[in-house]
Amino acid sequence: MAGNWKMYKTAGETTAFFEKFIPMVSASTHCDIAICAPFVNLPAAISAAKGSRTGIGAQNLYWGKEGAFTGEVSGPMLKAIGCEWVIVGHSERRQYFGETDATVLKRTQAALEHGLKPIVCVGERLEERESGNTEPVLREQFDGGIAHLTPEQFAQIVIAYEPVWAIGTGKVATPEMACDAHRFLRGLIAAKYGAGQAAASRILYGGSVKPDNVKGLMAQVEIDGALVGGASLEPASFASIVNF
Ligand code: 13P
Repeated sequence: MAGNWKMYKTAGETTAFFEKFIPMVSASTHCDIAICAPFVNLPAAISAAKGSRTGIGAQNLYWGKEGAFTGEVSGPMLKAIGCEWVIVGHSERRQYFGETDATVLKRTQAALEHGLKPIVCVGERLEERESGNTEPVLREQFDGGIAHLTPEQFAQIVIAYEPVWAIGTGKVATPEMACDAHRFLRGLIAAKYGAGQAAASRILYGGSVKPDNVKGLMAQVEIDGALVGGASLEPASFASIVNF
């Protein structure tokens, strides 16, 4: 169960979140828990979550180790401060910051090389779903990106299926719609990496996950977890999702 805080919260608000949140999920051993915070708040988050079961992640990374890349943050930098996870290829990065399947692959490889666990996002836009192109779009994102990982690399990633039309809109995909997309993705994994890997891969659903719809989503066999935006910003809300 992962929270994506996007561009929300100051360092002080980050610390205050964890003071409330950590005790609320201390008994939850059924899942991994992660919060992906803005870069500048990672030290505050890591310090506040120290010794707990909640791992901290970034929301992006650059693929170079170091160099003249003004404004970028590298895998070794994230690893050095105790970051565990990193989101790669979120649709907002694809939409506003020129992310492509090729750069998603480079970032994923860099994350793995430096010991970070990537949460790689895929998902179709509204017009793509309405024109019946959900599966071709997912196939293209898979084939153009993470299908180039070695089997050893692929075994370490988490995939997040996030239909773009369901992000921040309150329009959650029905559990059946999400399940269909997850099943399709698992089929792509099986064809490329084998049935064993397809069964073992963790695929999260993201898009308007809330305390009141998480149970229905998690009841689907294909859905292994959630990547939560807005509802991860409040301790009680995200805790009730984690403890679904
Ligand atoms: P919301 O949960 O706010 O719809 O955001 C989903 C998301 O983009 C998580 O990465």
